[in-house]
Amino acid sequence: MKALILSGGKGTRLRPLTYTGAKQLVPVANKPILWYGIEGIVAAGITDIGIIISPETGEEVKAKTGNGDRFGAKITYILQNEPAGLAHAVKIARPFLGDSPFIMYLGDNLIQNQLDPFLESFKKHQLDALILLRPVQNPSAFGVAKVDENGRVLQLVEKPKVPPSNLALVGIYFFAPTIHEAIDQIQPSPRGELEITDAIQQLIDQQKQVEACNLEGWWLDTGKKDDLLSANQIILDSCIVASTELKVDEKSQIIGRVQIGEGTEVINSTVRGPVVIGENCHIENCFIGPYSSIADRVTMIDADIEHSVILQGAKIVGIHQRIVDSVVGQRAQITKAPPRPKALRFMIGDDSQIELV
Ligand code: G1P
Repeated sequence: MKALILSGGKGTRLRPLTYTGAKQLVPVANKPILWYGIEGIVAAGITDIGIIISPETGEEVKAKTGNGDRFGAKITYILQNEPAGLAHAVKIARPFLGDSPFIMYLGDNLIQNQLDPFLESFKKHQLDALILLRPVQNPSAFGVAKVDENGRVLQLVEKPKVPPSNLALVGIYFFAPTIHEAIDQIQPSPRGELEITDAIQQLIDQQKQVEACNLEGWWLDTGKKDDLLSANQIILDSCIVASTELKVDEKSQIIGRVQIGEGTEVINSTVRGPVVIGENCHIENCFIGPYSSIADRVTMIDADIEHSVILQGAKIVGIHQRIVDSVVGQRAQITKAPPRPKALRFMIGDDSQIELV
């Protein structure tokens, strides 16, 4: 069994963060989203992993993630020159996949469940494809499935205007090598992509064994800001344990589950967990409220945040109104000239959003 993780794409829904970086590397609780997927796959016993990368962000993904040693896996990078669809990604990964069955995992998906039970079901029933489904409010934004009462999949459609059900395809699929013949038989969709949903539909039309499992735990498609904040909240809730030795000065107060990285100074501040703070940060005269993740090398002085994600090297100085539900990109700066500014002065990147609430 091998794994194919898709980590290309342009990440348009997470702009402006994704102008300068891959969406799969955006951190959730200070760890790239992509790494959660890799860890889940390795935990299911699959260590031969191919990662599809794009020309725009591939080098960054490679540099950050490495050859797999840190996960106990072997990673092979496969370049997809154009975003020509999920089935196209499988096609170009054929030399890596050979005739092995494989799990295909979209690198911006995060799920609570372990993969083992799905893998077992896929193997035991000798399926051609096993897909995971989840009821959603807005099925038109996803691939949608119609299934019969035995879990047999009858129909799949990609982003339908009139959805046949409310069951969305989670971006995790299990395939036998028969998927390759199915992909060879499909044509690009109206949006010009080779769709994996069409290839699975092809299997269904040929009476192959295609089944679906319902995903019971949470699922987040972190390609959007609100999902990113929810993912951050859920992961901080479930994964952060209180560190016993936290280096903070005597005027600071740490409450609840908090982790603080090496070389970070916390001075005259209150940190109320769950919170994770990276390495080499400077936090002074701040309140850091629950569900905040602060990446490495962040400076925060005279600031107050809650339920927010602050990326590497960002600087927030002199902002006394509480910053909430916010994502602050790498090296972004929010500062105020003391004591009482008469005007606001901005240098704001394309697609940025500032809400004075
Ligand atoms: C892709 C798939 C879609 C699936 C979704 C899950 O869409 O094409 O079928 O439901 O992932 O995340 P995308 O998010 O790339 O638009």
